Amino acid sequence: RARRQPYRGLLQRCHKDCSSFCTDVGPVGRRLGEKKGETVWMEMGRLVQSLPDPVNLGQGYPDWEPPEFVRRSASEAIALGYNQYTRTQGHPELVETLAKRYSTHLHREVDPLNEIAVTVGCSQALYLSLTALLEPGDEVILLEPFFDLYLGQVKLAGGTPVTVPLNLKQGKWELDVAKLESSITDRTKAIILNTPHNPTGKVFSPEEMESIADVVRRHPQVSVISDEVYKYIIIDTPSQDKCSTAGCELELREEAGPSSPPRHTHFASLPGMWNRTVTCSSAGKTFSITGWQVGWMVGPSDFIARVHALLPHVQFCAPSPMQHALSRVLEEADQPFDGYLNYYAWLRAMYDRKRQKLLSGLKAGGLEPTKGEGGFFIMADARRLIPLVPSRYFQQAAANGRSRDFALCRWLGEEHNLVVIPGSPFFQNSESKMGKMKDESPCLLRMAFCKRDEILERACERFKILGHQVERYEAQAAVPTSTASTETHV
Ligand SMILES: Cc1ncc(COP(=O)(O)O)c(C=O)c1O
Repeated sequence: RARRQPYRGLLQRCHKDCSSFCTDVGPVGRRLGEKKGETVWMEMGRLVQSLPDPVNLGQGYPDWEPPEFVRRSASEAIALGYNQYTRTQGHPELVETLAKRYSTHLHREVDPLNEIAVTVGCSQALYLSLTALLEPGDEVILLEPFFDLYLGQVKLAGGTPVTVPLNLKQGKWELDVAKLESSITDRTKAIILNTPHNPTGKVFSPEEMESIADVVRRHPQVSVISDEVYKYIIIDTPSQDKCSTAGCELELREEAGPSSPPRHTHFASLPGMWNRTVTCSSAGKTFSITGWQVGWMVGPSDFIARVHALLPHVQFCAPSPMQHALSRVLEEADQPFDGYLNYYAWLRAMYDRKRQKLLSGLKAGGLEPTKGEGGFFIMADARRLIPLVPSRYFQQAAANGRSRDFALCRWLGEEHNLVVIPGSPFFQNSESKMGKMKDESPCLLRMAFCKRDEILERACERFKILGHQVERYEAQAAVPTSTASTETHV
């Protein structure tokens, strides 16, 4: 069943009683350093609302209902009476279940009451981690491109974001570890690591993780905030899969056998990293319940104590029925599911199929997908589509201070009913990273494949048509006496 959109009308309504608040961005806007505080999600959200029946590969949420056992757990939790506040730091049944699971993942006994905090989504776990860690002016390293939320959160928590690029080499995103190390100063408090990675789908190999851990060992003031919301969606084994250290060996041994599926490496499980890592995650992506907003963090008790002290000043608790339901869901998910060993095996196979479908559609459309091994996004270089875009889209993007990927996305939306996300918001200095309006550098777009097959098929049809248009344009452009229309050129 398609997802309902109860807020559809609301988004189009503009407030009539403007007040003095309208004329000033206020302290939040100033800290974020934005003129209007408008995010890419607001802009693309408006585009989606303006289209009649868009093929939406935009925001990262599944457009189907969660499995029956997940929905049943939610209604049972309400029927059983878990409707009032629960323990602020985390519902007892949920922290017990999480502690059991993480004790296995991290190869140590995790204390449910002192080493776990339950939050409103992983977003809040990240924000509270930063708030509990940073003094004004402290630096936080983001591996770029990065999930755009990090940038604003670091600034709001009083920190200064410092970016270290993931370099795109032959279609593959690679971390320059030397650059990571040279970016560390006395003020560096944290590195945010996200694997599987949004927006690229990169899964950091155990070897890369070990080299990050080495850097952390050499800089005692630095912690790692490890965002692992896509950890159950690892489709391929990352290319460097050999690791000599004890923690990695354990992780790899668990996978034993060539036919066993690729597994997630928990950064906190690497030698010496438990005391240096806050692991943040949530249930939204794994169980197609992004709206439940149950997240958590796991880490050393000294750090979690700070967050436990902070939480009562933020809210009484994350939603009790959803926390209770999730504790049941996590137990049921280990059971055989729809012909698979368990729910997680089914999930991986389902996303593998969807990714294959979209990858072939993108290639047929003349786009060049970059290599990723997990998550539910593909980043692709769409520079070959640029010559098809009428110049007014570039003029409009430039007038709004946006780079050319925004122009391309608006054109794809307005003229092809296809919604994808521009790549530049995942970079700090988008104009230099994404190319100016008229150059030959990559023009990256992010596509979500957590969408129904029917939507992916419609997207592939559209990409195919675009691919034909690109080929026709390029064939004409290759002929010296070309009569190709100049109307569309940048
Ligand atoms: C990398 C990453 N971290 C965190 C989140 C937020 O997760 P939640 O919905 O649990 O707050 C997202 C959501 O898209 C994400 O992509």
